[in-house]
This record gives sequence, structure tokens and C-alpha cells, in this order.
Amino acid sequence: MPRTLVGLDIGSSGVRAAEFVPGRRRSTLRRHAAVPLPQGVVRAGAVVDGEALTGALRTLWSQGKFGTKNVRLAIANAGVLVRQMDLDWMPPGDFRQALRYQVQDFLPFAVDDANLDYHLLEELDVAEEGKEPRKVARILLVAAARDMVDAFVDAARGAGLRTTGVDLLPFALVRARTPLGLAPSTGAEAEAIVDIGADVVSVAVHSGGVPRYVRVIPGVGGDSITEAVRQRYDWTWEEAERTKVFVGLPGHAHLDESQLHAVSPRSDGLDHAAQKVVVFAATALVEEIVSTLDFYRAGAVAEGAEPTAAVSRVLLTGAGARLGGLVDLLGQRLDVPVERLDALARVRTPRRLRALPDGLSSVAVPAGLCVGASR
Ligand SMILES: Nc1ncnc2c1ncn2[C@@H]1O[C@H](COP(=O)(O)OP(=O)(O)OP(=O)(O)O)[C@@H](O)[C@H]1O
Ligand SMILES: [Mg+2]
Repeated sequence: MPRTLVGLDIGSSGVRAAEFVPGRRRSTLRRHAAVPLPQGVVRAGAVVDGEALTGALRTLWSQGKFGTKNVRLAIANAGVLVRQMDLDWMPPGDFRQALRYQVQDFLPFAVDDANLDYHLLEELDVAEEGKEPRKVARILLVAAARDMVDAFVDAARGAGLRTTGVDLLPFALVRARTPLGLAPSTGAEAEAIVDIGADVVSVAVHSGGVPRYVRVIPGVGGDSITEAVRQRYDWTWEEAERTKVFVGLPGHAHLDESQLHAVSPRSDGLDHAAQKVVVFAATALVEEIVSTLDFYRAGAVAEGAEPTAAVSRVLLTGAGARLGGLVDLLGQRLDVPVERLDALARVRTPRRLRALPDGLSSVAVPAGLCVGASR
């Protein structure tokens, strides 16, 4: 039996896992499974009810019949800080050791309570007036509050699983896109990968597989649209959710002819009255993504690091991105191509596994955790 890797995506609407057989050039998807989570178990990307999460993971393992209990997991919530920093250059081994001391003043929590990691962006010489040029390492620092990470690891352990790796979700998505890493980036073009979840939006801007900018926006996602519909009509959550999925944005309603007849002709150009609420809430979501990308652009230009690395394409993943018409809405607003991320584009996928009920969004994060990861 070849050694396999399992990637685990713990989201607020469900848990999903996929198992991969690593190959020399390409990984192969072996199996995958998903189990929904009741509301309130995971919120804004963080564990709220560890015991309930353990229960769901047990169910996931008995359904998925995965060949290993070792898992890698992805994290995106308010307890992770990602920030670009310039630190004094040192050989990699020393650099890692010195990192704790170098960054302690920048963290919102004590360095002893943090898990630290970094991505090297570039090495450059900085000339300050009247001083010798200084070699600096420009990094993306990732600092995660340890107790937040432990809540995931403990819930997994409760289900008999051993966590062998934890990664920031946006980084995993960049790897799902470029599992082998492309040629060293020229810096000329950047691509944004945006995961629209239930109540977290994660954004990664990368060029050729090298992350440039990362932002996790907790409390924003598809659920904000459901909540807007629920409030407007005083419905239950389930009613609002069903209506949201059903009506989508104008021109994208999944109405059949008889229903269309019943609600048309409408003078306001909507397929259904509830679309007005969906448009309003979806626009707020889109604006959040737009301002995040504006922020990236402003930073990239101001620091002169990669002034030409404009975002030339946006790839969407996460089930929240399935809202009818959302891809078009974001595309119009950004004026760059917006497409769905095909996380299995570079993964061998047996035919029997190809038809996923929810498209590819449930394997994107697990794939990113496993393909191209160092073993
Ligand atoms: N067909 C659909 N049309 C519109 N929205 C959808 C559709 N299917 C799912 N959603 C929405 O997608 C969101 C869930 O997305 P996803 O499953 O990626 O989130 P999650 O990973 O569980 O949560 P998070 O990443 O926020 O922790 C929900 O808000 C849900 O309403
Ligand atoms: Mg998610």
C-alpha cells in the first residue's frame, strides 16, 4: 500500500476530507467524504463546540473509510495573523531560531502562546541614508494563537486522528492551484484565490505559486446573505437558505417555467422578490473582496516590492461562491476574469470520483493540504 495523505477541511457548515496517493509528478485522489455540521459547532473558522466536532469527525471517518488516521488541517480565522515583514537576513536555520525574538513586538499575543511560520518572499538589499546597505529577508509571517490551533488538534484527537500538519487555508489553496510550484515568479502577474465560505472569506494573492498577500476575513461569507433574507421575511434559517440558493442573483434563478410564470412579469427586472435582498447582501460581500484586493494593490505599489504584480485573474472556491450570478457580479466589479478554481486540475482523479455533488469546492482545501506538500 502506498503511503497516503489525508487533508481535512473544517468549515462552519461541514467537515470534508480527501485522501491522496502522492506521486512523483502528480497525486491521485483516492476517496473523499463530507459531513454537515450543525450551526454553532464551528463559527467564523474557529472551534466552538469541540465535542460535537469530534462526533462529526468520527462520522466522517466511518463514512470515508480513509486508509490513515494522520491528517493535515487548514486554519482560517481571527486567531491567525499574517503580515509582511522585513527582517535582518540570516542563514535559514538561524533565521528560524531568531524569528521568535524578531517578531515578538508585533504580535497581538505573547510569542510563547503562538505557533510561528513564515514564507520567504524575497531577499533584498536595503539602503538607508548614511548606513551600509543591509540585507533583509522579506517574509510573510504567519502567527497563530496556540490555544486556537489546539482546539482543532484536540477535537481531531478525540476522533482518533493524529494531526501531522497545520497550514493556513489560503496557502493551501495556492498549492491546490500550483501543486508543483511554477517557475520562479517574474512578479509580472498575480492571481487571487478567494474562498467564500459560510462565514469566513479567505484571500490569497500569489504569483506563480509564491504567496504575496493573504487576508482572512472572519464573519463574512454566504451566511450573511442567508441571514439578510431570513431577517427580511422573518423566515427560519432553512427557508431563507433554500430561497437564497433558489433565486440567486437576477437572471440566475433556478425557477422552472411554471414558477417563472407565477412570478412574472415583474416590472423591476427581478426573477423573484427575494432577489432584491440577495443582491444587496451579495454586493456587500463582493465589496469586501474588492476592498481587500485594493488593499493588496495599494501595499504592493507603496512599498515598491512588486509594483507590476497586478491581479490579472481571480479564482473562486468555497460553496458560498456557488450563488447563481456571483462570479459575474465580481467579474463586472473587478474587470478581470473571474473563474472557479479547479482544485483537481493537476490531480489524477478516477472517473468514479469525478462527479462531486457540489462541484469541486469540497476537495479544494484537502487537495491543497496534500498535493505538493513536503513530506
Ligand atoms: N448552491 C449554492 N448557492 C448559493 N450558496 C450556497 C450554495 N451552496 C452552499 N452555499 C452557501 O455556501 C456557504 C458554505 O460554504 P462552505 O461550505 O465553503 O463554507 P464552510 O467551509 O463550511 O465554512 P467556512 O469556510 O466559512 O468556515 C453557506 O453560506 C451556504 O449557504
Ligand atoms: Mg471553508
